[in-house]
Amino acid sequence: MVPQPFPRHIVDVAPSVGSTIWRYSDSFGLADPEAAEARLGLGEGGTPLMPGMGDLLLKVEFVNPTLSFKDRGAAVVVAHAIEQGAERLVCDSSGNAGTAVAAYSARAGVPCTVYVPAATSNAKTLQAEAHGAYVVRVDGDRAAAADAAEEAVGRGEGFYASHVWESSFLAGTKTFAFEVWEQLGRRAPERLVLPVGNGTLVLGAWLGFEELRLAGLVDEVPPITAVQAVGCAPIVAHATGRHFDPAPTIADGIAIAAPPRVAEIADAVADSAGEFMTVDDVEIADARRRLAEVGWYVEPTGAVAVAAAGQLGDRGGTTVVPLCGAGLKWPGP
Ligand SMILES: Cc1ncc(COP(=O)(O)O)c(C=O)c1O
Repeated sequence: MVPQPFPRHIVDVAPSVGSTIWRYSDSFGLADPEAAEARLGLGEGGTPLMPGMGDLLLKVEFVNPTLSFKDRGAAVVVAHAIEQGAERLVCDSSGNAGTAVAAYSARAGVPCTVYVPAATSNAKTLQAEAHGAYVVRVDGDRAAAADAAEEAVGRGEGFYASHVWESSFLAGTKTFAFEVWEQLGRRAPERLVLPVGNGTLVLGAWLGFEELRLAGLVDEVPPITAVQAVGCAPIVAHATGRHFDPAPTIADGIAIAAPPRVAEIADAVADSAGEFMTVDDVEIADARRRLAEVGWYVEPTGAVAVAAAGQLGDRGGTTVVPLCGAGLKWPGP
């Protein structure tokens, strides 16, 4: 075999400056967004919106710098913390948010401690530790990790860069909506199908489209179908009155037994004229396998919305579904 010569084409391609979340930074509520981007930007946002899975349009969020959509919010919450004078950051997480905050803290040169539930996958904690974060495994569940972080903040161990409580995190995740709107040619999709645990994506998407509506750029916030795992569906229970027996789920990113913003999430979904759905682990694993078979490798939580969207039937119009987290974050097959 003789190696083929290199292909030589004349290209006229501008460098990819300006395709990150910082295009929208005037809406982040930061005092100096340009300084923030220069200090801690890692290239977050600007993710592709892809056909290739039936009628769905997939927003490939796992190509964000730390491999999940949480980078959108983490970049802004860390920027906000630094503007507030923070010299150390504390957060709690089921994995991805903590990893994202760890990365932006590292980029900004600010130490960070991440409290995680004891069962968090090594793939996620190793990633956070690689960014220099001090990871504390807390005996107990996700709520126990949150309690430990709050206690640490109470002891003066740092600024609470919480994706749950800090509204600056939602200022970052709302860019998901702005990008979808732009990528569809400045219009809203007919529906969004989103996984929900603590609600940073659902609330961010709602907030983004609501801001577009207030600016007269869309008529309405598109209906949001918010999806939980059958074994951990407190928001669906709150919104519908249905009872669910708690059970373990492979969708660890949304296994939040008592989300503090439960009422706001229910209100946002109702305001969008959306609905709630649940999917079980068999359906999640099946959606994950189907995605991998056509080239997208996601963690189980990243397949939740695809599993649900497949059950909606043909409702016409455009359905946007995010692929939130990369498959390598999951320790299992
Ligand atoms: C991959 C992935 N998808 C979705 C979610 C859900 O985000 P939220 O808990 O903010 O609703 C998470 C949260 O950690 C996640 O890691």
